[in-house]
Order: sequence, then structure tokens, then C-alpha cells
Amino acid sequence: MVEILTKPMNKHRKGILLAGGSGSRLYPLTVHTSKQLMPVYDKPLVYYPLSVLMLAGLKEILLISTPKDLPSYQKLLGDGSTWGLSIEYAEQPSPDGLAQALVIAEDFLAGHPSCLILGDNIFYGHAFTSSLQQANLNEEGATIFGYHVSNPSAYGVVEFSSDGKVVGLVEKPAQPASEYAVPGLYFYDERAPAFAQTLSPSPRGELEITDLNRCYLTEGSLRVELIGRGTAWLDTGTHDSLLDAGNFIQLVEKRQGLKIACLEEIALGKGWIDKNQLSQHVSSLGQSSYRHYLENLLQSPAHFLNQSPS
Ligand code: G1P
Repeated sequence: MVEILTKPMNKHRKGILLAGGSGSRLYPLTVHTSKQLMPVYDKPLVYYPLSVLMLAGLKEILLISTPKDLPSYQKLLGDGSTWGLSIEYAEQPSPDGLAQALVIAEDFLAGHPSCLILGDNIFYGHAFTSSLQQANLNEEGATIFGYHVSNPSAYGVVEFSSDGKVVGLVEKPAQPASEYAVPGLYFYDERAPAFAQTLSPSPRGELEITDLNRCYLTEGSLRVELIGRGTAWLDTGTHDSLLDAGNFIQLVEKRQGLKIACLEEIALGKGWIDKNQLSQHVSSLGQSSYRHYLENLLQSPAHFLNQSPS
């Protein structure tokens, strides 16, 4: 039995970024490298979910990946201090399901609430940042999201009663009860590792995140926030959707002259790094357009930060 706590813990939330899996749907792209390191226009895919954790205000992050791929993430992201973060790493030895991330993260969380994000999920939208900050404030229970899609059978799906209450969650249903998919972004209270320990593998042999979310639904402490159509939630699981995501980011960035998921910009906006730290980092970025963007940011930070998603 999982003990039900009646008082909020009042501890800050920690982030978990799950970047595991074999990525076999993207072969041969991902035979030798991790899916979440694939380019999405001008930056690696993992930057996008990492930016979401930062926009939610989380600075302590555990990145979970396969033993084979973990060294690549350590090389890319280091200890996170470039962005004022603390990033730790843990292995998921075999792909035994998304909910296993909470079991792996138990020591890292040490009784803190968490936010789990899947390393292949991209979100973009102005109102989205305030949804994140709101979800972060909920100390008890869990907050997940619902997003209207044309292909709900590919995802976890929300089932609503006739009066709009959430009555069920089903993983990849053949006959979906609604068009609302559950994106890979989950806010949990401190009990999530204990709930995850109680789960049994599904018929496909995995600890399902939908089963973990159902634990909260069953006890009446699950909030499902619907993300409006003004926010984009993009999938990157196939060659087409990965290319579509890159094209989307390119289109918006070129039109606005502002970058999406620019970790340095978010960190500067939040005061997690200062201009001196940013300027030291910039020199390590070769001659890329990403570097030139950061140089412009250093020259006139107020101009950029007025437009900032943070
Ligand atoms: C996973 C989850 C599913 C969720 C999806 C979001 O599916 O099992 O509930 O809707 O992530 O990206 P996957 O695509 O990893 O099989």
C-alpha cells in the first residue's frame, strides 16, 4: 500500500528527462546514436524537452538514458552549469517502460515532487509556459495534459464522461474514446516512485506511464489540463515527423528572428547565468548561427528578453 500523505511536502520539484529507447523507428539514423540527439533544425532534439523543464522553473534534473548513449549526453550537457542547472545522469539498462524512470529516479528525487518529460516531445506556445508554471505549483497529486490530435490511437488517450469529467486513461487504444492524447509531460507529487514500484509489466512487457497515471486517477488526485490549439505539441518518432518538426522550428525561428528552446536565452532570462558566463560559453560554439544569435543576445539582452518565453 502507498501511504497517502495529507500534508503538502512543500519541497521544490525536480526534473526527470527520459532519453532512452532503441529509436528503431528511425533506423538507420539511430543505429549508432540516440534518437534524442537527432537534429531538429539548429539544435539537438533533447534541447527542446530540457527547455520545457527550465521554463517550468526546474533547475535540478536527472537525465536517464541507455548505458550506450549516456556518455554522449554527458559530453553534450555536462553538469548543466552552462545554463545554471545541475544535471545528473542515470542508466536505464533495458527499455522496460517509461514508468521505470520514476523507480530509477527515486534516490535522486529523495522525497521531492517531480516532473517527467520524454526526450522526444517538443512543445511550443506562448500560453504553454504559464500552464507549466501553474502545474508546478500543484503540490498534491499529479497533473498531466490532454491535446487534441488526429491520430489518438498512437498515444495514451483520455476518456471523458458526458459531463466532461476524466473517467479513464487508455494506452494506445484501437478504438479511442476521445481525440485527446496525453503528451509526454507529467507532474507528480513525491509518491510517484512508490506508485511506480507497485506496477506490473503490461502485455508488451513494459511499466506503462498510463498505469502510473491511473493510480492517481483512481484515488481522485489526477488533474488533466487541456492544452489549447494555440500550442504545438510535435512528435518526432518517424522520419516524416522528425523532418516536419525541423521544418516547423525553422519556419517560426526564421520568421520571428527568435529561437525556440535556446537554453542560454532562457537561463539568462531567469537570472540563472549572467552575461559574463554566457560570453565565456559563446566562444565554444564555433561559427554557427546559434553562436551569432547568442552574440546578439549579449549585445542587447533587453530586446530579446522582452520577447522571452520565460
Ligand atoms: C508514450 C506513452 C504514451 C504517450 C506518448 C507521448 O508512448 O506511452 O502514453 O501518449 O509517449 O509521446 P510512446 O510513443 O513512447 O510509445
